[in-house]
Amino acid sequence: MKKYPNVFVFDHPLIKHKVSILRDKNTGMKEFRELIEEITVIMTYESMKDVTLVPVEVETPLERTVEYRVPEESVAIVPILRAGLGMVNGVHRVFPTARVGHIGMYRDETTLEPQEYYCKLPDGIEEKTVFVVDPMLATGGSASDAISALKKRGVKNIKMMSIIAAPEGVERLSKEHPDVPVYVSTLDRCLNGNGYILPGLGDAGDRLFGTK
Ligand code: PRP
Ligand code: URA
Repeated sequence: MKKYPNVFVFDHPLIKHKVSILRDKNTGMKEFRELIEEITVIMTYESMKDVTLVPVEVETPLERTVEYRVPEESVAIVPILRAGLGMVNGVHRVFPTARVGHIGMYRDETTLEPQEYYCKLPDGIEEKTVFVVDPMLATGGSASDAISALKKRGVKNIKMMSIIAAPEGVERLSKEHPDVPVYVSTLDRCLNGNGYILPGLGDAGDRLFGTK
């Protein structure tokens, strides 16, 4: 049996290839941003395997047939600011009509506790499948609080998507939100004393936006 039934680690060769470039300290801001988006596209496909489809009638040039589609407007994206913003375009490439909510969180550098500073969500979010996106799942505090904030507002169907996770983050989400599937492309070794993932890729927000 899986140790964490709600955690899915992708073992996809294309993702591995792209993550290896992402980790490289010599990868510049533009390429870093593009890779985050490309990896998110692949992860979005993989994490939607269980999506509920609705039947629709389609008229081909030859005849009328019943096909299946993802219901329009059924998906929303909630990036955790800032670094989650880098994943929004990736989900949009698959679901261009997805509405976007934003949750602002920063980690207090000494306690590592997440602090919420912003929350703006689209109307009707309770009825949607909500992708919470953040490239880094370290202690899991930011993701866990963001998921709690959505649940408090009535959201029932949440999927968490992170590119790199630490075992500590995965464990925390499994304990605090066992009902939420967590999709990660890579499960890394551990956290260092400052809460950074090892081997990791450094500070995702700074590398995405060139702030350091
Ligand atoms: C980073 C990252 C996550 C969080 C992960 O954000 O993007 O949101 O840390 O850490 P945790 O799992 O221990 O909570 P940060 O707080 O550095 O803010 P930023 O995105 O604005 O740089
Ligand atoms: N946030 C990051 O951006 N990187 C880490 O390694 C941990 C948290």
